Amino acid sequence: MFSEAGDGLSHHPDLAGKVALVTGGSRGIGMATCRALAANGARVAVNGRDRAAVDTVVAKIVADGGTAVPAPGDVTDEAAVHSVRESVERALGPVEILAAFAGGQGAPAPTTELGSDRWRAVLESDLTSVYLTVTAFLPAMIELGGGSIITMSSTAGRHPGGANAAYAVAKAGVVMLTKHLANEVGRHGVRVNCVAPSAVLNERMQRFMSPPQLDGLAATFPLGRLGQPDDIAQAVLYLASSASSWVTGVILDLTGGRVIV
Ligand SMILES: NC(=O)c1ccc[n+]([C@@H]2O[C@H](COP(=O)([O-])OP(=O)(O)OC[C@H]3O[C@@H](n4cnc5c(N)ncnc54)[C@H](OP(=O)(O)O)[C@@H]3O)[C@@H](O)[C@H]2O)c1
Repeated sequence: MFSEAGDGLSHHPDLAGKVALVTGGSRGIGMATCRALAANGARVAVNGRDRAAVDTVVAKIVADGGTAVPAPGDVTDEAAVHSVRESVERALGPVEILAAFAGGQGAPAPTTELGSDRWRAVLESDLTSVYLTVTAFLPAMIELGGGSIITMSSTAGRHPGGANAAYAVAKAGVVMLTKHLANEVGRHGVRVNCVAPSAVLNERMQRFMSPPQLDGLAATFPLGRLGQPDDIAQAVLYLASSASSWVTGVILDLTGGRVIV
């Protein structure tokens, strides 16, 4: 059931033909997740706000022989989330794998200088978006009698650190939302798990950090390197597939050894 594919990704035959939606699939970790799911034969809906970025990911997957459709929309907007659901169901059918990954407003700020507008915006971006996404797709999963939901927390939601307080609180909220839902919907065959990465190289880090700064950060990890988007995508493949069929309510710390619990 679990073998190493030629592209370095793990291979899960049971994912073939499954319908997956990845919010925040247009860049970074989400993009790697879309490509990994498609490489395993899943039919993937790619979400993000930037339509051009979404279309680029869809085109890459199709060029690689996979199946993907665009599902653009702002997942902090409830009506937009329902439009995304309707368009994905029309194009591919009901979603069986849901990766709720959109977000990422963790830039540091002293708590007293954050301000209530930014506090609310970060909670909308990194917590309410997950609630809206999951609740839009859960009823169809319950009706189907199964599904795998994977949410996105962060080391910031597990331990106090450098990110802003609203982001830390939002990502800690994702942890409890995941556990709560796993407990609530397990009897319907729906599993809900969470990934909690530490520093994973993305476009923003590459733009704002110099190579020596990135090397210095990498050296702080017991495994001596930063995370790559594919490190997270591999964990998602496991959590999406039947390889994890008795796993729910788990928070998977993906941290190069930085967080050892
Ligand atoms: N990179 C890390 O070190 C790290 C560590 C722990 C957790 N995380 C989490 O992992 C997730 C992805 O992070 P990343 O590093 O891959 O970031 P990224 O490269 O900036 O990608 C963020 C993605 O989320 C989308 N997005 C953001 N807000 C959205 C919204 N309201 N509606 C729809 N799409 C939205 C973006 O699309 P548009 O650009 O089109 O809006 C983009 O596709 C985030 O939740 C982040 O908090 C990242």
